[in-house]
Amino acid sequence: MKDILNQLEERRAAARLGGGERRIEAQHKKGKLTARERIELMLDEGSFEEFDMFKTHRCTDFGMEGDKPAGDGVVTGWGTVNGRMVYVFSQDFTVFGGSLSETHAEKICKIMDMAMQNGAPVIGMNDSGGARIQEGVASLAGYAEVFQRNIMASGVVPQISLIMGPCAGGAVYSPAMTDFIFMVKDSSYMFVTGPDVVKTVTNEIVTAEELGGASTHTKKSSVADAAFENDVEAIAETRRLIDFLPLSNREKAPVRPFFDEVDRIEDSLDTLIPANPNMPYDMKELITKIADEGDFFEIQRDFAGNIITGFIRIEGQSVGVVANQPMVLAGCLDIDSSRKAARFVRFCDAFEIPILTLVDVPGFLPGTAQEYGGVIKHGAKLLFAYGEATVPKVTVITRKAYGGAYDVMASKHLRGDFNYAWPTAEIAVMGAKGATEILYRSELGDAEKIAARTKDYEERFANPFVAAEKGFIDEVIQPRSTRRRVARAFASLRSKKLSNPWKKHDNIPL
Ligand code: HXC
Repeated sequence: MKDILNQLEERRAAARLGGGERRIEAQHKKGKLTARERIELMLDEGSFEEFDMFKTHRCTDFGMEGDKPAGDGVVTGWGTVNGRMVYVFSQDFTVFGGSLSETHAEKICKIMDMAMQNGAPVIGMNDSGGARIQEGVASLAGYAEVFQRNIMASGVVPQISLIMGPCAGGAVYSPAMTDFIFMVKDSSYMFVTGPDVVKTVTNEIVTAEELGGASTHTKKSSVADAAFENDVEAIAETRRLIDFLPLSNREKAPVRPFFDEVDRIEDSLDTLIPANPNMPYDMKELITKIADEGDFFEIQRDFAGNIITGFIRIEGQSVGVVANQPMVLAGCLDIDSSRKAARFVRFCDAFEIPILTLVDVPGFLPGTAQEYGGVIKHGAKLLFAYGEATVPKVTVITRKAYGGAYDVMASKHLRGDFNYAWPTAEIAVMGAKGATEILYRSELGDAEKIAARTKDYEERFANPFVAAEKGFIDEVIQPRSTRRRVARAFASLRSKKLSNPWKKHDNIPL
């Protein structure tokens, strides 16, 4: 009997070694943790329950029948993050370069199926040479099985991908369909075709890092949502994100203990808006002053800085924030910011996370680059996302809300529940100068007359009261009491019920 028990331990120890000491050392030398070390850090201590530790591949080509490491290059199972259940898979680069075989894919599919059935997020740690070359189409089939589950799980359970090594070819499309992608600086890359193919086809000479490193995907392509210094930081921040999210679309986000006054008054906000309407200010200051303990988890910080997206808590409850940032492009909406915010709004709506929108937007960015790039269709994404969202929506206009951008940014007309404005708000079709120049074109030669006309327009429209008189703004509030007002608004919306007409699915302008 004892022998049998010992045998189990020996088999387990061999499986835990993955590709062996030499390859583990090579992994560490690259500054990377092993698949198991990553899981250990991701989950609460001692909470990991592994599946399929002894599963092996079925390939008999290229001498593979003699090389069957237990686990087949991926560690899968479930555990907890701060006491809440998550499913994880972690590719083991020390076993056939973490490449995906038919059986490796089956292991991932198994935990994805369980996650959907049992209502818990899936966290995938990717570190793989791609399709297992020895297996050919069986491996491609395995990828497609994973893809199909990514699609089915979308909007059912949160899916988070960490890219912690290579991720190339069609393999990138599994992370691409998950909700958030985090990359590790200098040790991870994602691309559909690598530098060698790029050189052959287009004559471009580019390194893997330039083509698909963390900087490229967080700053240029927006494929990734954040870049972190190393594996440890990426894992710690993933745990922080999980704390903001519900386990599935069947549950609400967790309510965390908070140590902050709900009716905290912030006198400094009364002077946040500069006297000169063309001067920028940092919208992040308002976000952190509204948030419990100033805690803000930003998504896509390095892309389309003219809009800010991320999570805060108010009274311990998760809230998704979308805010124009006057410090970048004067807070204009454009193609990139519309796409970024639309995806975020849809995530929040899918997972029943209320949305706070902070508005200071002078309109859509003009120019041929924007029009040729399809700003009409991309801008419509954000409009569509806000309009279809049924979660509680609270909006605060701090300064400008001009033109179509006023409508887009969670206005009353898109079923905003609470639409507040600060006394400094200017809600109009456009700025006073532009309006005057169009209305009084014949007087353009007379600077004095134009100045008087501009002043008149400002007095009549550059305020929140015209909109408030019409009921488009529910209340004009003091900046200093924004946290209290927003908190009370969300509190009153906790039992909100709103549904859209039945349809198979909508046809958002993709
Ligand atoms: C089988 C693989 C492998 C693969 C790596 N290995 N990739 N085994 N299938 N795809 C093995 C290597 O043989 C080696 O085994 C070990 O993993 C580590 O690989 P190295 O090359 O020594 O490591 P490194 O120098 O760090 O380079 C990593 C790498 C490189 C850049 C990922 O291995 C590489 O280019 N691999 C091939 C990538 C590729 O073309 N994959 C197919 C892409 S197409 P030993 O025994 O020496 O440790 C694809 C399509 C997906 O993925 C389609 C989905 C629809």
